[in-house]
Amino acid sequence: ILGNSTNILWHDCPVQKCDRQQLLQQKGCVIWLTGLSGSGKSTLACALSQSLHSRGKLTYILDGDNIRHGLNRDLSFRAEDRSENIRRIGEVAKLFADAGLICITSLISPYQKDRDACRALLPEGDFIEVFIDVPLHVCEARDPKGLYKLARAGKIKGFTGIDDPYEPPCCCEIILQQKGSDCKSPKDMAETVISYLEKSGHLQ
Ligand code: PPS
Repeated sequence: ILGNSTNILWHDCPVQKCDRQQLLQQKGCVIWLTGLSGSGKSTLACALSQSLHSRGKLTYILDGDNIRHGLNRDLSFRAEDRSENIRRIGEVAKLFADAGLICITSLISPYQKDRDACRALLPEGDFIEVFIDVPLHVCEARDPKGLYKLARAGKIKGFTGIDDPYEPPCCCEIILQQKGSDCKSPKDMAETVISYLEKSGHLQ
């Protein structure tokens, strides 16, 4: 689907994804972190990036909060703007993966259809959806930015989990449950994801 662009043709270059991957000794992919605000997506993204970096693997993080400072600064938190936020980041992530990088996205990405649309952009196996499954009451108790408090007081409208939905993934590659005594450190969670990448051949 080309939207409003017409009369455009795809241009290929002899240097291809496989050449870049060979150079980097890794397989480009997207690790798509999803979960409520305060679930620890950004912390895990950093732990993952640090751990992979120390193994000589090239990563890049696309963090929702950060991208909303620039590329997506025109977008609100209305449903259609969240979808556009996710669509754009999905497209950028696809480019990073095509460049041969391990691209880690860290977005609430609350709607299943938007995550599925991003998955469809990537070759089979190169979109790794990771659900950070932290109950709402735990995220709300953490409330690192004080936003849940504002949402409960009606000062923020349409806050995910409060008066805007979060649709948990129906089938994803990895679920990191952070419930009761079953709480893992960011480093341990990063190791779980890295074990997956080792098995899937993305670290070569
Ligand atoms: S989304 O739904 O994927 O488009 O959201 P995302 O780009 O990841 O941005 C989420 C961060 O924005 C802050 N924030 C809100 N979150 C949810 N709902 C509303 N209404 C909202 N307003 C601001 C919040 O700090 C989120 O940060 P994280 O890192 O997820 O806690």
